[in-house]
Amino acid sequence: MSYDKMHHLDQSLRELADQVVNYAMERIAMQPPPLDGPKSAEELARMYPTNITKEGLGGKEVLKRFVDSYAPATLSSDHPRFLAFVPVAPTKASILFDLVVSASSICGTSWLEAAGAVFLENEALSWLAELAGMPKGAGGTFVSGGSAGNLSGLHTGRHHMFTTRGSRPSRWSIICAPEAHSSIRSAANVMDVDVFVTEGDDKGRLTKCALDSKWNSLTDEERSQVFAVVATAGTTNAGMVDDLKGASEFAKEHGLWFHVDGAYGGAGLLSEEKRPLYVGVEEADSFVVDPHKWLFAPFDCAALIYKEPILAAKAHTQEAAYLDDINSMPEWNPASFAYHLTRRTRGLPFWFSLAVNGTDAYEKAVQASIDLAKWTAKEISSRDYLELVMDPELSVVMFKRKGWSASEYDAWSKTALRDQVGFVLPSMHNGEKILRFCFVNPTTTEADVSAILDSMTWKPNWRG
Ligand SMILES: Cc1ncc(COP(=O)(O)O)c(C=O)c1O
Repeated sequence: MSYDKMHHLDQSLRELADQVVNYAMERIAMQPPPLDGPKSAEELARMYPTNITKEGLGGKEVLKRFVDSYAPATLSSDHPRFLAFVPVAPTKASILFDLVVSASSICGTSWLEAAGAVFLENEALSWLAELAGMPKGAGGTFVSGGSAGNLSGLHTGRHHMFTTRGSRPSRWSIICAPEAHSSIRSAANVMDVDVFVTEGDDKGRLTKCALDSKWNSLTDEERSQVFAVVATAGTTNAGMVDDLKGASEFAKEHGLWFHVDGAYGGAGLLSEEKRPLYVGVEEADSFVVDPHKWLFAPFDCAALIYKEPILAAKAHTQEAAYLDDINSMPEWNPASFAYHLTRRTRGLPFWFSLAVNGTDAYEKAVQASIDLAKWTAKEISSRDYLELVMDPELSVVMFKRKGWSASEYDAWSKTALRDQVGFVLPSMHNGEKILRFCFVNPTTTEADVSAILDSMTWKPNWRG
């Protein structure tokens, strides 16, 4: 294709537009979509010699290749039986508006470029901040995921501690529980920060008592290195909420930054029944919650909210002559609140869906997963070949298949995906192999769960 045609919607591109939009609409309408599953790199390489050529293959052929060959080798994370990791369950409205965000070429870096869009993203952030009980004026930005949010929040915390203390220790450190998400260690690695790990309670939660006892075991020099305490509002593996109140008191007592990672579990704030678990989150200096996990937005959408956003702007604003015009504006520049510059207004699909559906629907949808987790725990306890590991606190259920070896768990999981029964991966708890369901999709039913549990009664023919 000649280069001047690439940016014009001529007749052939109009036809392609119809095909692409029809495919997208069919995929949006599928209830459920196919679960699908991975293929090896060799199998995928055998499908076509190459897709990238000098002349281009034309839209029709390339779309056909994706739809027929590569999409089936790509899991649908919004399938109601995709229960591994933390799935995604975007509302139809949020997906539709994601298309609009792409079509609109909005650069969400600054107010100058995207005032209208940033205003709306901020409306969604304010709703989240209010839900958490954070003070008026709390705000931040949407980043790509919980990992990026944790890194940016912790960087702000360290920058603030450095400026208020006026000196830098030989090493910086943070303090957290063993069940803190892997991205906290990863952020610490990137920042070259040490991690002091407390004991967890019987469910792996961070407690004030464990924080005190860790603190008492540190030398004066080690204590002077600590700049932040990280608590998790919904651990990934077990779905437990740390003692946020205790952690916030500890942070206050020792003049530390209080970061709350609610990437997965922050959404539980919407459940009236679960709200008491979150007391203390309102004290967070930085708080992460991912709408692309349990708040029904498409990937990639994580909210990073600060009690005092000015502290983030001091830590993150990038200085360059060509940015002077935006940096000198008093208005809200999302780029200043995290480690990023050019950014997609990834909060807009979330905002659109909230505005379209109303927050009551969100409350009910979150509660549906909590209720399903409770039902599942009871169902597991009623089946003699299964054992519940612990009562669910939010929407994660951990359980064991009695009599299975580690390799049998792995083999069942592979077979269940191959047979499209469901996508469930083993995990570990207290050194033992277990299975784990993570419910965030309100379209997952008791029948879906029963079908998966039923598939564990027989010995799959993995040995043959
Ligand atoms: C508690 C928690 N924090 C952080 C993350 C990382 O989020 P992301 O994968 O969006 O970077 C996850 C992911 O599951 C999580 O559960």
